[in-house]
Amino acid sequence: MTTEAVGQVKTVLVTGAGQGIGRAVALAFGRAGWAVAALDVDEQGLGETLEALAGCGAPDRVALRADVADESQVAGAMAALDRRWGRLDALVANAGIADPRWAGQLDFPERPGDADALRRLTAAWDRLMAVNLRGAYVCCAAAVPLLRRSDRAAIVLMASTRALQSEPASEAYAASKGGCSP
Ligand SMILES: NC(=O)c1ccc[n+]([C@@H]2O[C@H](COP(=O)([O-])OP(=O)(O)OC[C@H]3O[C@@H](n4cnc5c(N)ncnc54)[C@H](O)[C@@H]3O)[C@@H](O)[C@H]2O)c1
Repeated sequence: MTTEAVGQVKTVLVTGAGQGIGRAVALAFGRAGWAVAALDVDEQGLGETLEALAGCGAPDRVALRADVADESQVAGAMAALDRRWGRLDALVANAGIADPRWAGQLDFPERPGDADALRRLTAAWDRLMAVNLRGAYVCCAAAVPLLRRSDRAAIVLMASTRALQSEPASEAYAASKGGCSP
């Protein structure tokens, strides 16, 4: 669908749409008659989402392979949307990763002075923040020029109950989702 053809059709970008909640959100928009852009790092997941979007009657759909933690890749995705639709009516910043401590892949240092363990832990914190919190911000900021061309633009940030309640082994995740909450 070209910039001219998109006309009155509403347009949405859903990040993390390669599976899970993001795919379900993308399909719900598609069923409601919106043109849908699905962004994800997972090429195969994107392909499956595109196929499902075609089957549910979305008037236009586009797959954008990008890592939300990388602003150059996100800028590239927005440039592609500018060429295709020239406008965005909604952004759903949904891409997110789980806390590796919650998944049992990482834990606090066993002994005082274990700098390596602390380094692994903080590297995981940094990556989680880069995707869940900074990534959401990067997508919002990069989408602003396209959203400004809509007469009624909206942004949805995918937060979590973890932003509000304490649960074990999810400190980084809870902090990232706190940053996405009103
Ligand atoms: N599942 C839950 O119970 C739940 C509860 C509350 C909030 N959430 C939030 O909802 C969102 C989606 O959760 P989900 O359960 O569908 O997760 P999921 O793991 O099933 O899907 C996440 C998607 O995001 C993509 N993704 C991950 N890192 C990315 C990156 N750097 N750039 C682009 N895409 C990336 C993945 O490839 C995947 O397709 C997340 O933000 C999550 O924190 C989930």
